Amino acid sequence: LSHSVLKPGKSPPVIGTTPVFGGMLEFLKGPIGLMARAYPKYGEAFTVPVFHKRITFLIGPKVSEHFFKARDQEMSQKEVYEFNVPTFGKGVVFDVDHITRAEQFRFFANSLKSDRLRQYVGMMVKEAEDYFAKWGDEGEVDLLDALSELIVLTASRCLLGREIRETLFSEVTTLVHDLDKGMVPLSVFFPYAPIEAHRKRDKARKELAAIFDKVIQGRRESGAVEPDVLQTFIDARYKDGSRLSNDQVLGMLIAVLFAGQHTSSITSTWTGLLSIANKERIFPNLEKEQKDVMAKHGDKIDFDILAEMDELHFCIKEALRMHPPLIMLLRQCHVPFEVETTKGKKFVVPKGHIVATSPAFAHRMDEVYSEPNVYKPERFKGESPEDKRAYASFIGFGSGRHGCMGETFAYMQIKTIWSHLLRNFDFELVGKLPEPDYEGMVVGPKHPCTVRYKRRKL
Ligand code: HEM
Repeated sequence: LSHSVLKPGKSPPVIGTTPVFGGMLEFLKGPIGLMARAYPKYGEAFTVPVFHKRITFLIGPKVSEHFFKARDQEMSQKEVYEFNVPTFGKGVVFDVDHITRAEQFRFFANSLKSDRLRQYVGMMVKEAEDYFAKWGDEGEVDLLDALSELIVLTASRCLLGREIRETLFSEVTTLVHDLDKGMVPLSVFFPYAPIEAHRKRDKARKELAAIFDKVIQGRRESGAVEPDVLQTFIDARYKDGSRLSNDQVLGMLIAVLFAGQHTSSITSTWTGLLSIANKERIFPNLEKEQKDVMAKHGDKIDFDILAEMDELHFCIKEALRMHPPLIMLLRQCHVPFEVETTKGKKFVVPKGHIVATSPAFAHRMDEVYSEPNVYKPERFKGESPEDKRAYASFIGFGSGRHGCMGETFAYMQIKTIWSHLLRNFDFELVGKLPEPDYEGMVVGPKHPCTVRYKRRKL
């Protein structure tokens, strides 16, 4: 391993704060603010002391490469994301060694093969049509609330399965909501603190386990095979032939559900809000694309037809550039590594540091994107798209070894929604474009996200 022979070098500068609490106060005020203050002074690599920990920030593509490429033995997620264990459950994802985890993710990869994705798109289209059929001829909606609701419906159909979607939907949604609300900023440092939110979380996790026990047992006894992610986890076998327990099947489902729920709801909302806010510039292209696709395929939508919608794709990608819902990605450093800044300075990040990189900050750097605060989907088009000029310029889905496994699923989901909406409605923004809400664990637009819609055929 080349890194093990690395000579000790200069550590990144430690940001000057009052001892002990300074770093923590800076950190709690919000990581984006902290980076905005520290970056001009210290550059692309600096360390923030928080309690007894050291968090080293790596800002921008040049110094972040190793973060994304490193093997789990060099930099791992387990320690920094372990606070999810009470939510996901024992024996899965961040509660197992990285080899077991890799096997578990292989199970999930099996459920995302292209024939399976094609089936999910069919379910997404059906859910979207049913959902928007209930809207009136005109009215106002909070886009984030509406799209979150639709995405929960779709996720329960594709991931949790028919039994849950058709007969246990409201019960399971309430329990998943309690699980979700059981993750508050305090949980990151103290996941088992005796607070009401955690008590509700633990109770909901138990009740979900009882429900899924029955559903899984039912499938095993009847021999029924369904085209959903639940089925893949039921059928999955480790290399040694053993399988997931019912509780671990549920744990995997919760992990996948949580990875895709808020992230997709938020990104589909920003896509809509930003496109509507720039309607004159953006809508003609989007509407023309829908018309062209309809001229070719009629009203039908499937995986391949969605894949033709490049204009919509770039709008989604640009929304994700400006407002990535995961604003900070973290790792624990086990093997020291060297970074070289754009100015040629070299630092060694020591073993034991937490390492952080930020999609939200990196995506707004002048060095990487032209006019970074302007919504310009066309920056991704053509011969030399702005994100392809350096490795890890676009990290809304992460990158490299632990890049998002649900990226295609997410694009398909969001494209299904917006192609339906573009074909059937006209939109106006009510009020100003909302600001991002940095208080949340997953960062979305602040409420209200009100839009006015009017039914029409394109
Ligand atoms: C990983 C973003 C949708 C499943 C990630 C990571 C990011 C991300 C940034 C990397 C985390 C890290 O490096 O620490 C997003 C966004 C989404 C989205 C912005 C929607 C717009 C989904 C969906 C699913 C999913 C729909 C599942 C159906 C996963 C999984 C991983 C992951 C399993 C872990 C991969 C690994 O650690 O090897 N996602 N995600 N994501 N995502 Fe997504």
